[in-house]
Amino acid sequence: MDSLADFLRHLQREHPGEILEVDRPVSPGSFQVTALLGHLESRGQFPLVLFRSARNLRGEVSSFPLVTNVFATREKCAIAMGLEPESAGLALSLDFAGRLQRRLPPGKLAGEDAPVHEVVRTGEDADLRDLPLVRHHEMDPAPYVDMVTVFRDPEHPFYNLAFQRNMYKGPRRLGLYMAPRHSWQLCKRYHERREPAPVAIVVSHHPLFFLGCLNVQPFGTDDYEVVGGVSGSALRITPSATWGEDFWVPADADLIIEGEVPPGLREIEAPFGEWTGYYGPQRLSAVVEVKAITHRRQACFQDIFVSHRENWILGGIPKEGDVFNAIRGVVPSVRGVHFAFSGNCRLNCYVSIEKQAEGQARQAALMALASCDFIKNVIVVDADIDPFNEQEVLWAVATRCQPHEAVDIIRDAKGSPLDPSVTRETATSKMIIDATMPKGRPFASRTRVPAEALKAARIEDYVSAAALQAIPCCWDSRRSQ
Ligand SMILES: Cc1cc2nc3c(=O)[nH]c(=O)nc-3n(C[C@H](O)[C@H](O)[C@H](O)COP(=O)(O)O)c2cc1C
Repeated sequence: MDSLADFLRHLQREHPGEILEVDRPVSPGSFQVTALLGHLESRGQFPLVLFRSARNLRGEVSSFPLVTNVFATREKCAIAMGLEPESAGLALSLDFAGRLQRRLPPGKLAGEDAPVHEVVRTGEDADLRDLPLVRHHEMDPAPYVDMVTVFRDPEHPFYNLAFQRNMYKGPRRLGLYMAPRHSWQLCKRYHERREPAPVAIVVSHHPLFFLGCLNVQPFGTDDYEVVGGVSGSALRITPSATWGEDFWVPADADLIIEGEVPPGLREIEAPFGEWTGYYGPQRLSAVVEVKAITHRRQACFQDIFVSHRENWILGGIPKEGDVFNAIRGVVPSVRGVHFAFSGNCRLNCYVSIEKQAEGQARQAALMALASCDFIKNVIVVDADIDPFNEQEVLWAVATRCQPHEAVDIIRDAKGSPLDPSVTRETATSKMIIDATMPKGRPFASRTRVPAEALKAARIEDYVSAAALQAIPCCWDSRRSQ
């Protein structure tokens, strides 16, 4: 797998509109970075941003440039996967779902040859205050690292990789929140033996590494093999600085924090701005005692603008393809699936089908809900509606269905406990809207300019490029529609 620096160079060279470089010093620990990202967002602009002079927690310009917004457009995710930006729609999600089926065992690299070990800081030198840690939202009590943790089973040699947040608590102390899933289970196994659980936090790496970490595989799967499958080449791993060959870490990462989670210790952590756009509650969470920070000589420090677009895209891409494939099993004429930004790429799912028989829309919707528990609302539309175009989807809702016939509510199904409207822990109601045209009876035809006329009348033949350029685009997010 290439390095993060390779990816940045590729964007600079081939897709300069996708990367913005800021030289002026910024203070990520006091909301300056998220404020600037917020301004870009309100302009409808989502470039990767490379802050060349980011201050660390001591207030000095850090030696680590800060990279953020890496996943804020699907186009950048497609580019990271070696696809054309034009494949950033459903093709990207289907490609990702296909890659998740592959496994490639990791390749082993001696510690001294690993780029991530070019600099090894241990003991007092492993100091989190040297890093440009980002505080994201007003009520976050401290800066957070919200990248990928690596845990290993204490008895079997498999590793689990997952995005998990770590709150800054002191120069060598972090607060780690783990929902009761695989990492939590592995950590518990060490704690049942009264041993601290080793953990590595991969802070910066090529985006393909992080995309591979979005997999949700059965417990016991070696995620290093899955990441290799997603990236198409074996992930190189190397003995960690702290535990040697007992715990291997990604060799081509830019920066890794190694630490231990002691048994029986819980401390206050959060509130934290979540993907929902709301704060998640304060909790008693695990603690990481930092043992080492290792990095490349020219390492970048990477962050995710949580609770914003890149957080949503990372939630949606790994699921969209699976949901499409699940629906295709029962409705082979499914044409598209999209997890819309309006539901933070989780709660609202739009499905388009070439309807061949009545009942198929409900069938497709039920399959979507069954295959992905975080979907709350499913809207099924006809194949002439692009599920990636929300305005078209809502037009279909407005004009192709009668609510008393088209809307179904399912009560008490499993959803996300972070949805603030949920009143019973994880139980939520779910809504299906069948916005497809009826079959077997006439329905109004949609207006169209003839396709031949569109093809024949080229606008460039009638209007100069400069005049066209000067007209504001009404699809621009700043203009009312
Ligand atoms: C950007 C991002 C941040 C996340 N933060 C957390 C977190 O702080 N804690 C957590 O338990 N899950 C978090 N998740 C969700 C987990 O990564 C996800 O549930 C994953 O499947 C867990 O992996 P596992 O099942 O292998 O344990 C986050 C996901 C993303 C994309």
